[in-house]
Amino acid sequence: MNSKPAHRRSSPEFPTSALYSSPSLGRLWKKVHLACSPFLRRPSVRRLYQKPAPQLLKLLRGPYSLIALGCADGTKEALLLKKLPKPAYLLAADTNLSLARRAARRLPGLKKAACQIDLTTHLPSPISHLRRLSLFTLYGVLPNLDPLPLLRRIAQRMSRGDLLLFSANLARGRSGFAGARKILHQYDNPPTRCWLEAAVKSYRPKLPTGRLQFSVHPDPRQENLARIEARWISPRKAVTVFSSRRPTTAQVETWIRSARLKRLSRFLDPRGEEAVWLTQRQG
Ligand SMILES: C[S@@+](CC[C@H](N)C(=O)[O-])C[C@H]1O[C@@H](n2cnc3c(N)ncnc32)[C@H](O)[C@@H]1O
Repeated sequence: MNSKPAHRRSSPEFPTSALYSSPSLGRLWKKVHLACSPFLRRPSVRRLYQKPAPQLLKLLRGPYSLIALGCADGTKEALLLKKLPKPAYLLAADTNLSLARRAARRLPGLKKAACQIDLTTHLPSPISHLRRLSLFTLYGVLPNLDPLPLLRRIAQRMSRGDLLLFSANLARGRSGFAGARKILHQYDNPPTRCWLEAAVKSYRPKLPTGRLQFSVHPDPRQENLARIEARWISPRKAVTVFSSRRPTTAQVETWIRSARLKRLSRFLDPRGEEAVWLTQRQG
């Protein structure tokens, strides 16, 4: 048996912002999204992002704010907002400011702003000054960042009654590991390699010459959670450049409870590979 703690066995990791924060990396990520994302390839996945609308129409009775966290150019929020009244205030927040600005331009809102944030350390400050009900969105972000601390941080910033919609990429079956191995090809492909290799090249301190290797590992902070990783392998070291967690629905629901959020609804795609949760800050 290996007696080392899990975090010691894993390789050092890139901060996720290093994959997205420059305009050119943002453009390369968008190419990956256009070529590989199930959201664009499968209408049933796109529909997930409008399904919460009828319930939200009942919950959002007056003026509300929409806080779009890690929204990129706001494609998914735009779909939802087609079915909702225009928010009184819209904040688009992402580590990539040019993408956040694009989201703020395209999304409806009586007042709008865009800002650069690092969700691993803080949330945008205007949130705490808002008085009306806020609807937060967090789409496509949970797989890349440590999920439970992130959900806790967001929940702490929410006021009573505020709503959080978030998505997760799931692994089918009881254990995420076999499911994650089956969909490795969604990650190990030329556009994703091109994006991640560009991120490696621009990273400082410079990494030694090496190659990308994709595989499935346990999350270093939660051993029963499957994580697809792209590691930069060089003769002397391995660095985890990218990771995407593939929880089961049960694991996501444990995080919701641990973050002291209440699950209002869950919308699951027919293949069981992606879901959107509507949650609310408990009293
Ligand atoms: C996989 S993309 C998802 C984008 C979009 N929400 C969607 O679902 O299509 C992850 C997004 O999170 C942003 N992001 C990654 N790390 C971040 C961080 N530490 N703080 C804030 N945003 C981050 C990226 O810039 C990117 O827009």
